[in-house]
Amino acid sequence: MPGSCTAVAHPNIALVKYWGKRDLTANLPSTSSVSVALAGFHTRTRVTWGSDVDEVRLDGRTVVGSQAERVLRFLDRIRPGRPPCRVVSASDFPVAAGLASSSSAFAALALAATRAAGLDLDPARISALARQGSGSACRSVHGGFVLWRRGEADDGSDSHAVPLLGADAWDVRIVAVVVDAGPKAVGSTEGMERSRATSPCYPAFVEENERLATLAARYVEARDLAGLVEVMEQSTLLMQATMTTAVPPIRFVRAASLGVIEAVSALREQGVTCGWTMDAGPNVKILCRASDADRVAGTLRPLAAGVHVLAPGGPAFVESEPASAG
Ligand code: PMV
Repeated sequence: MPGSCTAVAHPNIALVKYWGKRDLTANLPSTSSVSVALAGFHTRTRVTWGSDVDEVRLDGRTVVGSQAERVLRFLDRIRPGRPPCRVVSASDFPVAAGLASSSSAFAALALAATRAAGLDLDPARISALARQGSGSACRSVHGGFVLWRRGEADDGSDSHAVPLLGADAWDVRIVAVVVDAGPKAVGSTEGMERSRATSPCYPAFVEENERLATLAARYVEARDLAGLVEVMEQSTLLMQATMTTAVPPIRFVRAASLGVIEAVSALREQGVTCGWTMDAGPNVKILCRASDADRVAGTLRPLAAGVHVLAPGGPAFVESEPASAG
């Protein structure tokens, strides 16, 4: 039955990191992770089952090769032997913001594709599906603060995100500081695999990060910002330890990133409760109270190419109900 549907999702950033897979095929993580969705930035994706040919359009242009394959293979999972499909997706945030666009992309795709196929799956199942497209995407299905449980099942059915605290339940901000707008030198899957296979720090990361995820979930639920930023920095540093000791090493941190981190420490010494995190790139994100966001952004603006102040975002949602293509 042909049908189409448009869904919208926000990107998220990890407060406690997902870095490493225990199963590459099912895309299962070695550890749990915790994130917050980002309001103001969206990916909007329309999926039509039953077009003339497969077509994938991303940000206004038709893509082919591995980029299109990744999307089409994802649709094969939802309905093996599917008809040709058209996928049109656009993000309204700059890739240069250093935010994982794949998190919102695969969350919006999972929701739009299942609804367009006539399936009304619960958020846990949509999250487990989105995870197979991009790990971090399972967290963008929910809004606000989210825990992605690593799960134990071999088929990944229990490896999905669960909501911790709604977007409006805690008045914090994420200040995204762009120090370098260039593309990633090493993709996340390659970086994770190299870290897992070659870094002597990787087992320590896995052991400690699981504990940090549990702790962070508690701090989120208690709205304890000082506790949360301490855990966030610890998880970030442990992830970076696995990268920098991988063979060959992966170095995302630049001098400008360190300048931002120094400025965050100085703000903290002045009594501002805030902390920093980084992902697979040189840009830095700061978590702080909403009432301190202008001060934090103003302090960091001279050090960066761009600064975005973002509130916690809501869950992925359907923009239009499936329409029969006749
Ligand atoms: O979802 P992926 O495969 O793009 O991996 C994301 C990895 C990090 O952004 C570095 C950490 C995270 O938990 O989002």
